[in-house]
Amino acid sequence: MSDEVLQPDVQPGEDALEETLRPRRLGEFVGQERLRSNLEVFIGAARDRGEPLDHVLFAGPPGLGKTTLAQIIAAEMGAEIHHTSGPVLERAGDLAAMLTNLQEGDVLFIDEIHRLGASVEEILYPAMEDFELDLVIGQGPAARSVRLTLPPFTLVAATTRMGLLTAPLRDRFGIVHRLGFYGAGDLTTIVHRSARILSIPVEDDAAEEIARRSRGTPRIANRLLRRVRDFAHHMGSERVTLEAARWGLEQMEVDGVGLDQVDRLLLTTIAEVYDGGPVGLKALAASLGEDQGTLEDIHEPYLLQIGFLRRTSRGRMLTPRAVRHLGLEPLVGDSLFPEEG
Ligand SMILES: Nc1ncnc2c1ncn2[C@@H]1O[C@H](COP(=O)(O)OP(=O)(O)OP(=O)(O)O)[C@@H](O)[C@H]1O
Ligand SMILES: [Mg+2]
Repeated sequence: MSDEVLQPDVQPGEDALEETLRPRRLGEFVGQERLRSNLEVFIGAARDRGEPLDHVLFAGPPGLGKTTLAQIIAAEMGAEIHHTSGPVLERAGDLAAMLTNLQEGDVLFIDEIHRLGASVEEILYPAMEDFELDLVIGQGPAARSVRLTLPPFTLVAATTRMGLLTAPLRDRFGIVHRLGFYGAGDLTTIVHRSARILSIPVEDDAAEEIARRSRGTPRIANRLLRRVRDFAHHMGSERVTLEAARWGLEQMEVDGVGLDQVDRLLLTTIAEVYDGGPVGLKALAASLGEDQGTLEDIHEPYLLQIGFLRRTSRGRMLTPRAVRHLGLEPLVGDSLFPEEG
């Protein structure tokens, strides 16, 4: 059960809830201070000039607010938003159809932009740069190419895999931002906000407990809040108390610092197979039978952030903190943890 509740991806049936809880305006968006204040400046300036905002790229693990921000940008610009995604845009014509549908100032949101095919990406370059679209009409000797001028628009793109983007594509975004995991304070605020929207009475210390165990991810915090409410209800409590939260989280086998099964397996593998490291990510991925990119983009950033993993020039190393958390035996005579981290 713990695997599923700690998944950073949207789970089946959660879509409606996500929409309900999504902040609509920049002022409601919690955390990511630097990003928020920068966006405020850029949006304000674009609006004053009566121009569309520069193209924006958001990168980061699932559930941190990329789609939410795309919608907020459109709302703040007073613009229509058109949603699509890399895998949906199979052929160049699919993107051309989206582009020719845009009105001046509209936001085109392309999710999972790292999954765009090369031929589709090529259409995107002149569209982003010069608002131009080259179309080939007809086939064979009669084929000719026409150039269409597009209305100025803003492309907002999201990716969980920044590393897979081609440099020419990345360079065409005026605003590029990586979203980091949220701290416990911001997540507590998010839990309270969601509790208010869903009319769930939650006590402060319970909200903090949920926040701590949410893997730095608002989507998981919202999910845990809902599940914990059921446990509170089962205990006959109208309110989500700390006791109810702890009991529920324990029943769901949610780790005290929000580690999921892959995180734990990754750490124990470094400990047991590689004597605590250092180990290269490639070897680690092979040992775990996991995709290297997934480890790099989803698991490693969180483990680095909470100080369980250290990156060295020779590979990844476990920290003493991770060893303590997992209750592993520090290896006898090992050279690993002479210094405390
Ligand atoms: N800063 C925030 N403040 C409040 N709620 C947030 C914030 N960021 C995300 N959320 C909540 O988390 C949920 C997931 O956010 P969102 O869908 O924007 O993530 P995402 O980065 O697009 O994820 P994915 O990579 O899976 O598409 C949303 O329903 C929203 O309610
Ligand atoms: Mg999204």
